[in-house]
Amino acid sequence: MERTSLKTWRIAVLTSGAGRGSNLQALYDYFKKHSLPVEIAFATASNKNAPVVQLCDKLNIPCYILAPRKDKDFENRLLELCQQEKIDLIALAGFMNLLSSSFLEKVGIPVLNIHPALLPKYGGKMMYGMNVHKAVFESGDKVSGVTVHLVDNQYDNGPIIAQIKVDISDCKSPEEIAAKVLEMEHQIYAPAIYKFLNER
Ligand code: GAR
Repeated sequence: MERTSLKTWRIAVLTSGAGRGSNLQALYDYFKKHSLPVEIAFATASNKNAPVVQLCDKLNIPCYILAPRKDKDFENRLLELCQQEKIDLIALAGFMNLLSSSFLEKVGIPVLNIHPALLPKYGGKMMYGMNVHKAVFESGDKVSGVTVHLVDNQYDNGPIIAQIKVDISDCKSPEEIAAKVLEMEHQIYAPAIYKFLNER
């Protein structure tokens, strides 16, 4: 990706209705703390009561309500926003829907996702949030982790750009796994995005 020395990367963060927005907060904090030229130009949530709406208000990030399941024009609206706002990269953070290949082609910028497990294990439809951690817990795995990957038109499927393991041998419940993995999510997503933007 071409970049002049003064350019600030502009990213959009897509979340869902139920998302806490903790990854959005972690991205914001990391770019700010390290004075990196990355701006979260806007976020989306799928309903106006999503916790992330209040969070965006606090952080002064425009938040648009775009509901992939209810709004059949969702992708066109998102495309328009990305073009208007000159977005360089879309980061999914708790966004639980598929994006079509036609959207991905038209938008023409990378879309990254963070997934709370070691893909390709525990990925696919319905494998999100606590569903993932319950499946990991029930499997008896002693190691889980975090994956950041490029998004294609299938769930949790695109090329992996960062992956880190988390020792869960001491976790006694899916909730304990979730907490440990989330802590690692907060550490790796922002640097992975920044590295990706700069290396392209
Ligand atoms: C995160 O754990 C993220 O990895 C997961 O949703 C959570 C959102 O939390 N995403 C998926 O499961 C995608 N398949 P947050 O709203 O606190 O960032």
